[in-house]
Amino acid sequence: MTDWNPFSPTFEYEHIDARTLQHSAWVGHRRFSYDLIRFYRPRLFVELGTHWGASFFSMCQAVKDGALPTSCYAVDTWVGDGHTGQYNNEVYDTISSISSTLYPHFSHLLRTTFDEALEQFEDGSIDLLHIDGFHQYEAVKHDYETWLPKVAPNGIVLFHDISIHGFGFGVWKLWGELTAQYPSLEFAHSAGLGILFPKGTTDQYDTLHLQWAELRQKYANT
Ligand SMILES: C[S@@+](CC[C@H](N)C(=O)[O-])C[C@H]1O[C@@H](n2cnc3c(N)ncnc32)[C@H](O)[C@@H]1O
Repeated sequence: MTDWNPFSPTFEYEHIDARTLQHSAWVGHRRFSYDLIRFYRPRLFVELGTHWGASFFSMCQAVKDGALPTSCYAVDTWVGDGHTGQYNNEVYDTISSISSTLYPHFSHLLRTTFDEALEQFEDGSIDLLHIDGFHQYEAVKHDYETWLPKVAPNGIVLFHDISIHGFGFGVWKLWGELTAQYPSLEFAHSAGLGILFPKGTTDQYDTLHLQWAELRQKYANT
């Protein structure tokens, strides 16, 4: 069985521009997502919803540090949505520069809608999909259902904001429906992170599942 190793990374992007963190409810999941990439070693990682890049660059950092053969794609219009509000080009310009400076060759920014990006990926090709777009129930359900065919056998789908009720957020509702059908793990902190295994599991899932009570507590405090 593969071992889970907790690392102590330096997240280089935050030293280039601290705004990568300031607007993100995601920061409490940086250490876990970093360790997940080092453990799971996906060939293809795709993120739907990147904004300032806290989640995307945390995972890119793991690819860089581990010299992994992972291709990373961030999909976003970089104009905002009904929950983030509209924002200007400074966001895209900044993270585009971080991507090419710190994580060249393997990090790619696709400035388009999630629907338009679908045709760029083969069915069954994405080992790790992170869904963090517009958080209304209908929107996140659409994102999940349209991208699920792209997920590889034994692939993982991450959902941010599973703990947020109110404000028009509905990820919690979709998450409840999916966890009734598929193996899953979850964090409640930092707006909640769901880890779904909708295409089967391997011994890597067993490793995580067996240690989950301990890991859940550990990463809630990092
Ligand atoms: C919650 S933010 C992402 C936060 C980010 N993962 C982080 O670590 O802070 C959601 C992003 O999704 C983008 N977005 C929402 N719906 C989209 C769609 N259908 N197509 C492309 N981008 C979308 C918005 O522009 C916004 O930047």
